[in-house]
Amino acid sequence: MDKYKIAIVVGSLRKDSFNRKLANAIVKLAPPEFSFSQVQIHDLPLYNQDDDANQAESVKRLKNEIKSSQGILFVTPEYNRSMPGVLKNAIDHASRPSGQSAWTGKPAGILGVSNGPIGTAVAQQHLRNVLAALNVPTLCRPEAFIQVKDGLFDEAGNIGADSRQFLQNWMDKYVAWVKKHAA
Ligand SMILES: Cc1cc2nc3c(=O)[nH]c(=O)nc-3n(C[C@H](O)[C@H](O)[C@H](O)COP(=O)(O)O)c2cc1C
Repeated sequence: MDKYKIAIVVGSLRKDSFNRKLANAIVKLAPPEFSFSQVQIHDLPLYNQDDDANQAESVKRLKNEIKSSQGILFVTPEYNRSMPGVLKNAIDHASRPSGQSAWTGKPAGILGVSNGPIGTAVAQQHLRNVLAALNVPTLCRPEAFIQVKDGLFDEAGNIGADSRQFLQNWMDKYVAWVKKHAA
């Protein structure tokens, strides 16, 4: 069991983040051989290339968590039609120093929930561009652009009935993607 460890990167630091709720709920749709843990990004310094040779402890921790995982799951809001700066900051940190990126080859999936009707579509597309540059094989379809609606989560914090089939299918495809690409 726990054959596949997945690092979840949530792109929101907000206490009541819908994206964190989605991250907490979606993991319950995965098979038992998958385990998930959310990486901490709120304590990372702002990326500064001068620090590449002497990375902060929080950066080393992030890189170790990514390196020891078999896959990555990004769950992110859209900020001003892109990914939040805190997420890009974390991605940049773990990509350095040059030639020592933690991301290389890690299979990834992207989910996002927002208030707006396009459900993080633009943020996800920007994130895909970045992940392509980092050699991260990213599940293309099904895409999951989710809008916050009553009933998205049930009272216990699980995925609500109306979205469960759609997100179960997404998780099944993500699981297959990780199994195919995990080293
Ligand atoms: C700085 C900022 C920019 C935002 N820009 C967008 C946007 O471009 N598209 C969108 O759908 N929602 C946008 N929103 C609304 C977010 O979808 C909403 O705040 C969402 O709840 C954030 O995710 P979270 O609940 O996980 O923190 C923006 C919110 C903030 C704070």
